Amino acid sequence: MMNHVELAKDIYWVGKIDNREVPFHRLILAKGTTYNAYLIKSEKPTVIDTVDIEFGREFVEYLSELINPQEIQYIVINHTEPDHSGAMAALAGRAPNATIVCTEPAVQELKEMYKLHSRHFLVVKDGDTLDIGGKTLKFKETPYLHTAETMITYTVEDKILFPCDIFSTHVASEKIFADEAGFDIKDDFVGYYNAIIHPHRRYVRTLIDALEELDVQMIAPSHGFILRENIGQYIDLYATMSADTVQDKKVTIIYTTIKNNTKKMANHLQRIFEENQIQATVFNADKSEKTEIIESIKESDAVFIGSSTRYADMIGNLEEVLKELPEMDLEGKIGAAFGSYGWSGEAIEVIQDYLNQTNMDVQSTSKVIKTTGMTHVEFPVRVRFSPKGEQLAKIEHSAGFVADLLRSAI
Ligand code: FEO
Repeated sequence: MMNHVELAKDIYWVGKIDNREVPFHRLILAKGTTYNAYLIKSEKPTVIDTVDIEFGREFVEYLSELINPQEIQYIVINHTEPDHSGAMAALAGRAPNATIVCTEPAVQELKEMYKLHSRHFLVVKDGDTLDIGGKTLKFKETPYLHTAETMITYTVEDKILFPCDIFSTHVASEKIFADEAGFDIKDDFVGYYNAIIHPHRRYVRTLIDALEELDVQMIAPSHGFILRENIGQYIDLYATMSADTVQDKKVTIIYTTIKNNTKKMANHLQRIFEENQIQATVFNADKSEKTEIIESIKESDAVFIGSSTRYADMIGNLEEVLKELPEMDLEGKIGAAFGSYGWSGEAIEVIQDYLNQTNMDVQSTSKVIKTTGMTHVEFPVRVRFSPKGEQLAKIEHSAGFVADLLRSAI
C-alpha cells in the first residue's frame, strides 16, 4: 500500500492500485486500474465508495491507519458494482456505527450482496444534501450511468465531485493526479469513455446538465486519475463524445392490434424516435398496402414489428409482411419485435423468430446484456395489457437504445 494522499483538508484517497491485467466487462485492462475510495475526516467521518471485493480486508487495514472504523458515521455508495462496493463485505462489520447512504434502487442490492439487512440505510434523492459535520455532501442521481442505482456525490465546501465510474481511466498509476502522470491522459480518458460510458451516452446529457449547477474544482472518480486541472476540458469531452449526431435516419414501425394496446406501443415508439430527431413511420398492417410497407422497410435503418396475441399467434395481415423479409437483403438494418399481450404473448416471439431468419441486426435482451452490460433494456419489447407507468419506460429504454445505435452507425 502507498501513502495516503490528501485531496483537500481532511479528504483522503484510500484506494487500491491493481496493476494486474485485470479482466473487466469482457475486456482485459492492459494497464491495470485503480479502485479509488475516499475518506472525509469531518466531525462525522464519511467513506465514499470502497474497493474491489478482492481487496476488502486490505482496504479496511489501510483505512484503519487513518481512522478507527468504529468512528465512521457514513458510508456513501455511489454505485453498487462490486469493484466499488465490494469491500462492504469487510468494512460493514468493522464500522458498525455507519449509516449506508445510497439511492433507493441500491438498498436492496446492497442488502442482498453483503447481508446488510439489519443495517441502517439513508436513502438520498436527487439534490439532497447531508451535513457530515463541517462539510456538506450533495447528491445527484445519475440513473443508468451506467446502472439504475448510480449517483454522484459533491462536497459543497471543497467543490470536489465524486462521480464513481464517470470521468474515470483504467490505468494503475501511483501518481494519483492526472497532472502528475507524466503523460497526457487523454487517450486513456477517451478509451475508458468509449468502453464503459458510450453505450449509455443518452444519460451523459442528463449528467452534463446536472453539473452546470455545481462549481466543480476537482473530479475524484473511482478508477484511475483524479482531475484537478482543466476540469472544463474533461467535462466538455464527455459532452462532445455523447452529443447527438443523427439526422437522416429512418425507422419503420409496423403493427396489428386487437384492443389498441399494441397500437399505443407503436405510437409511443414513434414518439420516442421523434424526440430523438429520427423520422419514424407507423403502419397498421391491416390498413396499409403491403407494397407501401415493404418500400418503407427498404428505406429504413431500423424496423420495429409488433402484434397482439390471439390463440397463441399473431393477428391480421402481419404475417404477409413477415414472410417477405427473409428473401430481402436487410443487412445493416436493426430489427426489433414488440407487442402487448394478456396471457403469454406468443405472437411477439413468433415475430422474433421471423426476424431471426433475416440478415438484420436483430435486437435481443441477451445481446444487449452481452454487449453493454445493460439490464434495463429489453428486446423483444413485451407489455402486458395497456402500456403505462413502468411499461412506458420500458418502451422508452428500448427505443432510446436503438436511437443510440443509429447515432453510432453514422
Ligand atoms: Fe467500476 Fe461500474 O464499475
